[in-house]
Amino acid sequence: MSTTSPPLSLPPIGLGTFKTSITSSIYHAVKSGYRLIDCAAAYSNQEAVGDALQQLFEDGVVTRDDIFVVSKLPNTHHVWTEGVDEGRVESSLKDTLKELKLDKLDLFLMHWPFAFEDVNLHYPSARLSDGSPNPSVSMKCEYKSTWDAMVRFRDLGLCNQIGVSNFTIEQMEDLKSHSAVTPFCNQFEYHPYCTNDSLRKYCVDSGIKVMAYSPLGSGSSSYPPISGCSLLDNSVIKRIATANSRSAAQTLINWSTASDENVVPVVKSENEGRIVENMAALGWELSRDAVENISDLNENYRFFKSYGGVNGGWHDGVLEARGE
Ligand SMILES: NC(=O)c1ccc[n+]([C@@H]2O[C@H](COP(=O)([O-])OP(=O)(O)OC[C@H]3O[C@@H](n4cnc5c(N)ncnc54)[C@H](OP(=O)(O)O)[C@@H]3O)[C@@H](O)[C@H]2O)c1
Repeated sequence: MSTTSPPLSLPPIGLGTFKTSITSSIYHAVKSGYRLIDCAAAYSNQEAVGDALQQLFEDGVVTRDDIFVVSKLPNTHHVWTEGVDEGRVESSLKDTLKELKLDKLDLFLMHWPFAFEDVNLHYPSARLSDGSPNPSVSMKCEYKSTWDAMVRFRDLGLCNQIGVSNFTIEQMEDLKSHSAVTPFCNQFEYHPYCTNDSLRKYCVDSGIKVMAYSPLGSGSSSYPPISGCSLLDNSVIKRIATANSRSAAQTLINWSTASDENVVPVVKSENEGRIVENMAALGWELSRDAVENISDLNENYRFFKSYGGVNGGWHDGVLEARGE
């Protein structure tokens, strides 16, 4: 596979915007040094991000070229019927640009490798917030024709690069056999409870960048059975953090880049102090032993359960969500 644009370098850490609504925290993050902002249409907050970016440009804090802006195609806007629904991808991308007040994205990702037919679906996740299957969705796998549409809109100049998110190795291979265009990156869940080693190695070996989401455990209150606590409260993490005079969050973020410098952690915070704390998580090294001790916490546990099952078998997840 090949790319038609020269590869861009990703900044070493990104600011996540899931469940963020405060324009001033995004402004503060960029002022503090973040250069990658990870957005998504599904987060329903891109206007707030756009307002922050506009203000940062007007105040001369950064220029458009200094900032790497990522957004994602929602599950409701895949190509549903080949040859008919490419307009869904176009309208979503154009709406995103309008909300963010930008002419183009640096990176446009396919948020998930499955699609919903109803573009107006109120709750477009495979599972409801209590974890039960969402009874209102109909789903099918349409990522190949959706990918082709994304390639076309990249070639039209609406984004510099395109990539995927939540794709397994099998899906990456499937896409490779279909398209000559390699995804610039795969963004997936990556933290000590879900180390996703083989997927990371596959991506790195294939020249595909890795963006690690939920590096702190997503502020979730559900925990894996063996550890039974949040990542930030895990005693192994706390012990290693104390030994290195760092916070638990800084230790987790540092770990995410320790196995491979190609991994870019995407961390969300709306708190000004924590935004700065997280930014300072890079630039020092955990010992090899510490990295191994942290990696040993792996339980293949996903905080984002709409993606099917502990071992990543998304087909099972889809069938399960449909009650089959
Ligand atoms: N592609 C996908 O499907 C996908 C899925 C999930 C996430 N993402 C992306 O990845 C980003 C990060 O993942 P995430 O938002 O799920 O979770 P995360 O970054 O692992 O954790 C965010 C949570 O940790 C708290 N936090 C942040 N810094 C902290 C610190 N230093 N000490 C203690 N608590 C801290 C935040 O609260 P405060 O805000 O109060 O600090 C928030 O509750 C998202 O925002 C999104 O951009 C992508």
